[in-house]
Amino acid sequence: MGSAVLRAAHVREDPPPWILEDTLSEQLLSDEERSTIHKEIATWPPEVAASFRLSHAVRTRLAEDLAVEGIAAGRDRYVLLGAGLDSFAWRHPQAGALEVVEVDHPATQTWKRRRLAERGLQEPANLRFVPIDLAQCPPASLELSVAATLSWLGVTMYLERGAVKAVLAGIADAPAGTTLVVNFLLEEGDLGEPDRLVRVTSQGTVARSGEPIRSTYTRGECEEMLAGAGFASIEILDAEALADRYCSGRPDLQLPATTLIAVARV
Ligand SMILES: C[S@@+](CC[C@H](N)C(=O)[O-])C[C@H]1O[C@@H](n2cnc3c(N)ncnc32)[C@H](O)[C@@H]1O
Repeated sequence: MGSAVLRAAHVREDPPPWILEDTLSEQLLSDEERSTIHKEIATWPPEVAASFRLSHAVRTRLAEDLAVEGIAAGRDRYVLLGAGLDSFAWRHPQAGALEVVEVDHPATQTWKRRRLAERGLQEPANLRFVPIDLAQCPPASLELSVAATLSWLGVTMYLERGAVKAVLAGIADAPAGTTLVVNFLLEEGDLGEPDRLVRVTSQGTVARSGEPIRSTYTRGECEEMLAGAGFASIEILDAEALADRYCSGRPDLQLPATTLIAVARV
């Protein structure tokens, strides 16, 4: 729910042009849910709220860009692991060219589908829902039988390392061309001062919401873990690389360096 609100807040509170325009996900929330999250965000320092709005927009935009690029490369499936309230299948102009698979914890997915029905948002024919608890997921259950683009964003931090490694190994076993975009939280010791405040703020918020952070990594550990899983190529995108790609000429947009995004290819 928080991710949905932050993506919409990027459009509401940051000046255009926006990195991502997603005000649809947030519509799945009730007024009360939205208001509870807005109240929580209002307790954050303004620069922390601004950096979270941006990081949520950037990570989703990157995954969607890779999914769309994948169409020309023959990857016509887009799998969202821990999809949450993602709205790609309903919102993106090129969603119809892909088979979209939303994998999520059964509880989250059941709730989302109920809300979609209540809001009159039909499930597109090219969208498939797969309920899986990724904390105990036999890799075969991901059904990665064809080369796909996978987005695994905002999830690894809620899983223990062992579970993250098991899922990565399953993905690295998928057909050649499979492309994963995944983010990891950097260990607190690796953060400079402004980013430490971002971390402390988010840690408090997620812990209060009953979803504590379970794993953080150094940059070297991310690289080792992905290489150990068996990916053929690994590109690590830190805040600087992401800012070069999406925020060039926008000094008003400051990405936090609390997260690393990896693009790993089989
Ligand atoms: C912060 S949300 C991120 C949602 C979405 N990927 C995004 O970027 O907006 C975390 C997601 O991870 C999912 N998740 C957490 N633990 C999980 C588990 N054990 N198995 C499957 N999904 C899980 C939650 O259900 C939720 O959809």
